[in-house]
Amino acid sequence: MKFKAIIFGLLFPGILAAETLSSPGGIIDVTFDVNTDGVPVYSVARLSETVIKPSRMGFILKDNTNLTENFELIGSVRDSLDETWQPVWGETAEVRNNYTELLVSLRQKETNRLMNIRFRAYDDGIGFRYEFPDQRQLIYFTLVDERTEFVMTGDHIAWWIPGDYDTQEYSYTESRLSEIRQHMEKSITDNLSQTTFSPTGVQTSLQMKTDDGLYINLHEAALIDYSCMHLNLNDTTMTFTSWLTPDALGDKGSLQTPCRTPWRTVMVSDNACDILASKLILNLNEPCAYDDVSWIKPVKYMGVWWDMITNAKQWSYTWETPSVKLGLTDYSKATPHGKHGATTENVKRYIDFASEHGFDQVLVEGWNIGWEDWHGKMKDYVFDFQTPYPDFDLVGLNDYAKNKGVRLMMHHETSSAVTNYERHMRDAYELMQKYGYNSVKSGYVGNIQPKGEHHYSQWMVNHYLYAVKEAAKYHIMVNAHEAVRPTGLCRTYPNLIGNESARGTEYEAFEGNTPAHTTILPFTRLQGGPMDYTPGIFEMDLSKVNPDSKSHVNSTLAKQLALYVTMYSPLQMAADSPEMYSKYSDAFQFIKEVALDWSDSRYLDAEPGRYIVAARKAKGSDEWFVGCTANEDGHESTLDLSFLDGDKKYEATIYSDADNANYATNPQAYVISKKKVTAKTKLKMKAAPGGGYAISLKPIK
Ligand code: NOJ
Ligand code: CA
Repeated sequence: MKFKAIIFGLLFPGILAAETLSSPGGIIDVTFDVNTDGVPVYSVARLSETVIKPSRMGFILKDNTNLTENFELIGSVRDSLDETWQPVWGETAEVRNNYTELLVSLRQKETNRLMNIRFRAYDDGIGFRYEFPDQRQLIYFTLVDERTEFVMTGDHIAWWIPGDYDTQEYSYTESRLSEIRQHMEKSITDNLSQTTFSPTGVQTSLQMKTDDGLYINLHEAALIDYSCMHLNLNDTTMTFTSWLTPDALGDKGSLQTPCRTPWRTVMVSDNACDILASKLILNLNEPCAYDDVSWIKPVKYMGVWWDMITNAKQWSYTWETPSVKLGLTDYSKATPHGKHGATTENVKRYIDFASEHGFDQVLVEGWNIGWEDWHGKMKDYVFDFQTPYPDFDLVGLNDYAKNKGVRLMMHHETSSAVTNYERHMRDAYELMQKYGYNSVKSGYVGNIQPKGEHHYSQWMVNHYLYAVKEAAKYHIMVNAHEAVRPTGLCRTYPNLIGNESARGTEYEAFEGNTPAHTTILPFTRLQGGPMDYTPGIFEMDLSKVNPDSKSHVNSTLAKQLALYVTMYSPLQMAADSPEMYSKYSDAFQFIKEVALDWSDSRYLDAEPGRYIVAARKAKGSDEWFVGCTANEDGHESTLDLSFLDGDKKYEATIYSDADNANYATNPQAYVISKKKVTAKTKLKMKAAPGGGYAISLKPIK
């Protein structure tokens, strides 16, 4: 069958008919054709309802040519797969990868250039990528831009953040597609560093909902050696077109055949829970690249961190800027300002608490010299990632932690001086290995150096993966902040245990996050991989942490607990201080007990921007954990516990908002109750405005 299509195509080029690929369960159809101008066109339908109208595909190249038209279809090959694989860590112990595949081969008539497009159809969406075979007609090429369209069927509701080449740290806007333009201006005023302006440009993963109740999500999978894709909307025709991140020269990427693009993905379902449960992005990534993964472990951690974020303490050691060049700096002569967070004494306090309460690691930021003028100065040589401040006993603290059964977590803030980081990376990783660190939180605050590069350009995309692969050689796990948003690469490189790459809890100490924020992130940012959201804040009035602060954390305390379940991550921080956890020790119990790795996950109830209710079963245990997060309207529902084992009885410990709780006015009002439950139990549950609830379910022996 395969061969017939190819041979037929070679004999009679250009007269092959449209091809339709149906997903294994017949739910999704993707249709491919080449139109009369030789433009490749695809469309997507779910149960015969159009999801993506006929949309063009191709590229504009720098040498004044294009790969958009004059193509003929010269062959097609079909395939399918139904396999089950085991992630090193994940939401489920097993992942089913079940798709049908269509590979179409195209030839551009005048240039003879060859371009293939590989489609995969799943029952919850599709992925496709461009593949450029080895050929003499096309070897080196530079992109002016990719021209992949996603033509929407109407003026859908979207949850979006503005297109930006350098940050995703935005609040989401919920609006009709036609309203993006009018919202964009305000969003730009609020933002940090939008490096370009497109009045209708948005980032992926983009979540939408149609008036017919279809949930559609656009993103990409396996972003490797290519620049990150945003989407530009033509708000007359409701057509999104791919918009790649430029490099320092303004080019969108340089490629050499044979090569391929990342997958462009469209998830679709009539049930919002299916979008949250989808494994499409992971499945489109390659299997694990490492033979030995025994060193990769989920991490629950505390940290010398929130005090700096709230400005109560400092990363730096002195107010002076003693460094002209690192290495020549003699900090012993500098006058300490007395607000340094990473002091030996303070770190010991965290180690003691972490050890007593069963945490794996303690993050310490501001341990290394250089923080006096670390960003905003366009310095190339900023940090050496190796020299501690005089009041941080690197060797002694690692020994101290080891004796207490915890590890320190390394911190590498690069300040986006990326060449400087690569210059020091191996020495820095070697130092970690020497003292027993096995995880690093890295960060990319500020403008990228080399100058003109962007956080999401091809060069940086390659850097982030280089750092992860190099780290693997030292058995180091990576949690990169401000890096490009993930696209499922953690399947292939599972030592990428976390990313920030979105607006995290730190913003609660700045302008605040909206109560809806964490009901949107799992639909968008989390599609590509886990987020180091750093939940667990128990003191919402931040003037109590730093008298100068006017910030307020827009969440109830119970919702902070729920985030450990609703925001899936194998890396979870308890971000508040030992004092707060001692003060609310009964609520802290949930953070201590909640699992990090799961054999099963069920999304029970969800609506983007409104609420999410999820239940997860701990890996290697019969315990379940439930979390619910709600926007400012709160959420009431009947929680059906039929996911529990029918043969067992469980003790449920329920951490819920008190009746009078409210994220703005009464966030710390919570109630803890215990109940005996079974799979037949239905619990009436209520989340306060901006609130939530968390439940642990332990089998009764
Ligand atoms: C921004 C990160 O998101 C935050 O967690 C970190 O503390 C600072 N950069 C300093 O590296
Ligand atoms: Ca950040």
